[in-house]
Amino acid sequence: MQTATTIAEVRAVVAAWHAAGARVAFVPTMGNLHAGHIHLVDEAHRHADKVVASIFVNPLQFGPNEDFAAYPRTLAADQAKLAAAGCDLLFAPGEQEMYPLGREGLTFVEVPGLSDILCGAFRPGHFRGVATVVSKLFHIVQPAVALFGEKDYQQLLVIRRMVRDLDMPVEIIGVPTVREADGLAMSSRNGYLAAAERRLASEVYATLQALAAEVRAGARDYATLEAMAVARLERAGFRPDYVSVRRAEDLGLPQAGERRLVALVAARLGKTRLIDNLLIDLD
Ligand code: PAF
Repeated sequence: MQTATTIAEVRAVVAAWHAAGARVAFVPTMGNLHAGHIHLVDEAHRHADKVVASIFVNPLQFGPNEDFAAYPRTLAADQAKLAAAGCDLLFAPGEQEMYPLGREGLTFVEVPGLSDILCGAFRPGHFRGVATVVSKLFHIVQPAVALFGEKDYQQLLVIRRMVRDLDMPVEIIGVPTVREADGLAMSSRNGYLAAAERRLASEVYATLQALAAEVRAGARDYATLEAMAVARLERAGFRPDYVSVRRAEDLGLPQAGERRLVALVAARLGKTRLIDNLLIDLD
């Protein structure tokens, strides 16, 4: 596997592939790769001839009091995992390559509405940072298809909307969340959890499952179900940002008769912010 640190290198490699008629898939990441990321690479192979991954801890999507500095950077181990997964090209730029004129005055991409609710309400500017860097990465890599984990469900919808609004010629594929044996969604941030917190962390998914079971059994008072889920997480020692039942298609508030729902949660445990979601398809 080749590792490129410059945009020019990526463009040259991809241009040669395109000239040879190859279809290119793209898996953008922030590194510290786990089995969920490798599953994205495996899926990418099913959709294209060549697979490009990127590793860039994007400063634009971190708030001033968030974990940008602490975010785990494990390039050598990540390269080995990607190579073993048959990734063809890794783009691992530095900040200077991605934002040569600095972060001030930067042109950005904003998906209004979807970016302002749920996680967006607790992390102002986060989805603007995500949309901006993903847009840049799409222009650099020019993939036919890009894959994103459903664990970041709101991010997936923000990117789908961006691609649609801006007519980007990229097919977006959402890939189901990969979980640990106890149900915890795989995340680079799980490494922040102390041993006792790690044992508690599976409660997030258990809470979502309990909520989904109520909905499947016919409960439709979502506000009460959300409040019960928040209380359960608080009892377990979490500080929930939100638990919310939304329309799966666009994260709107569910109307009567809604069949495709998603239950989403964000909750803090010690210094770690965990997110997860569960699709509830009533058909
Ligand atoms: O999901 C992530 O790891 C990041 O938000 C992404 C999509 C790579 C953009 O920085």
